[in-house]
Amino acid sequence: MEQKPILIQGAMEDEIATLKQNMKNIEEKNLYGYTFYQGEIENYPIILSKTKVGLIQVTAATLIGILHFSPCIIINQGVAGGITKNVHKGDIILGESCININSYQTPNKEEKEGSNPFTWDLKTFKEGIDELVVLEANKELLQFVEETARKQKIKYSKGRIGSGDVWNAEKDRLLWLSEKYDVVCEDMETVAVYQMASQFQIPVLGIRILSDNVLLEETYDKTVGKIGQEFVFSIIKDWLMHNNTKNTK
Ligand code: 5AD
Repeated sequence: MEQKPILIQGAMEDEIATLKQNMKNIEEKNLYGYTFYQGEIENYPIILSKTKVGLIQVTAATLIGILHFSPCIIINQGVAGGITKNVHKGDIILGESCININSYQTPNKEEKEGSNPFTWDLKTFKEGIDELVVLEANKELLQFVEETARKQKIKYSKGRIGSGDVWNAEKDRLLWLSEKYDVVCEDMETVAVYQMASQFQIPVLGIRILSDNVLLEETYDKTVGKIGQEFVFSIIKDWLMHNNTKNTK
């Protein structure tokens, strides 16, 4: 039976380079302007996708990845900014859930009444204005990754990722997001991938390593992406071994 590949995504070159080095028999494919590396880890088919930055780019890349390669699972990984005081640069965050922090309704205000972002309610727009939709990671995948991290003694947290085409650096805004909406870190991709994965019913998990935390004066350093990818690589190897043993039992 043909094996369905695992789709692993990263937005920027720094977020995929280490995984690329760890893959075998790589073939580069350019589809509609997006780069995919078709190869193997432990003889299992892997598609590594460079999605580019932002919700629109990652939606397109995910859709192309799904339609062209029919993946069995999707791992979206990369760097993110910590937005609570108890997470640090270099911490690994497993995206138990995800929301769009760029989708909101403002209250009505008259001319000259100004604008106050703290009164903007995060909302999801469907047929009309809806309650905010919280998208969930695949439970089995999440549990497996947690077990592997514990076995390997790798420190991690799990929580809610907030995604949007926005880089928030106002401390009060960050605290508002984390306190009101329970968001641990922000990035520009995860929610779009969770949305596409749910549409196509493909198990998904977002894994982020923190490249910055404005609240703690920890400045952006995307080179931590390498450590995140090493973690993802070890997870994939473990997952393949686990499923191999399961299938041969
Ligand atoms: N806010 C938003 N996106 C961030 N990223 C890293 N830190 C942050 C942050 N504080 C990620 C995004 C995007 C790239 C610019 O880095 O996901 O891909």
